[in-house]
Amino acid sequence: MNLPRTRVLSGIQSSGEKHLGNYFGAIQQHIELQHEFPGECFYFIADFHALTTVHDAAAMREGVVEVARSYLALGLNPDKALLFRQSDVPEVTELAWLLATVTGTGLLERGHSFKEKVAQGLKPSVGLFLYPVLMAADILVYGSTTVPVGKDQIQHVEMAQDMATHFNQTHCAGEPILRRPEWRLSQTPYVAGLDGRKMSSSYGNTLPLFASGKPLRKMIAAVATDSTPLGQPLDPDKCTVFRLLSLFLQPDELERVGGWYRAGKRDGQPFGYGHAKQLLAERYEAHFAAARARREELVANPQQVEDVLTRSAARARAVARDTLDRCRQACGLR
Ligand code: ADP
Ligand code: TRP
Repeated sequence: MNLPRTRVLSGIQSSGEKHLGNYFGAIQQHIELQHEFPGECFYFIADFHALTTVHDAAAMREGVVEVARSYLALGLNPDKALLFRQSDVPEVTELAWLLATVTGTGLLERGHSFKEKVAQGLKPSVGLFLYPVLMAADILVYGSTTVPVGKDQIQHVEMAQDMATHFNQTHCAGEPILRRPEWRLSQTPYVAGLDGRKMSSSYGNTLPLFASGKPLRKMIAAVATDSTPLGQPLDPDKCTVFRLLSLFLQPDELERVGGWYRAGKRDGQPFGYGHAKQLLAERYEAHFAAARARREELVANPQQVEDVLTRSAARARAVARDTLDRCRQACGLR
């Protein structure tokens, strides 16, 4: 099979509601890339990976559909990019096994993500340990060249590079089968959460993408700030609200708001964190208003979402099948 020069691929966990960090760290760049490489972007919802933490069938099903709805609502065009369930391409699990047999346990033991999850108290299943092997199979089975991810996933992509090399060296004497992927960071690879730490579902400090109205204002009101009284000068560079505002404001607007912070005044009136939070809530709501409405339409039309997932999976599976057949042959399997 002739692979395109560039094949963009990324996986998105199906566990949990998507948040602002996921959007600016990953989803936004996924959607932009479909215009740069139409027809060559493969995005899948990582339900096999989610099984390392989600053990409730209804939550699993709903999680997958919610991610699909979110991507479509945020602008993924299924005529330009594929969006499918990881588990609809079972070939990845077989390739994962082939890769596991050429991967040293030391490589996986060095995994930051594994060590961090265990430190957080997650019981380390063999599946969690093998997480990077399955992720490498996801990447390599489609001949991916470009993997847009957030910072925390770089090490996993580097492990996939190592596994491709090991497999090619072990089994493909003349002609390598597996292509070397490269990671690609978004322009905003780090979004702070409500408490100032990295926004993450595991810290409970997220802003859900489609939050609006009173619940959104309440969450934004909870962003941690210091106790400087209203009207006193504030340091924008130390303020989480300001960092979040920078995601929504144009540079000139941001400069102006920075001025209000430093003066503790806006147009002669006192300016404080409460005003900044109000501005953030307004911009947040406006930024996602159209996507929120499209998401509602998709909630009312689940078949449309299902059709996209099914159609995309058929195309992705053909590519995966071809790679897997060549890998099996190279290993001496039928
Ligand atoms: P979480 O930490 O909430 O579980 P995931 O690990 O599922 O998020 O991340 C999904 C994608 O979003 C990854 O590519 C990840 O790098 C990116 N991402 C997650 N949180 C952030 C953040 N706070 N800032 C930037 N990117 C993020
Ligand atoms: N591990 C990724 C995350 O937590 C999700 C993922 C699974 C992925 N397989 C992938 C990302 C392949 C990129 C490529 O965000």
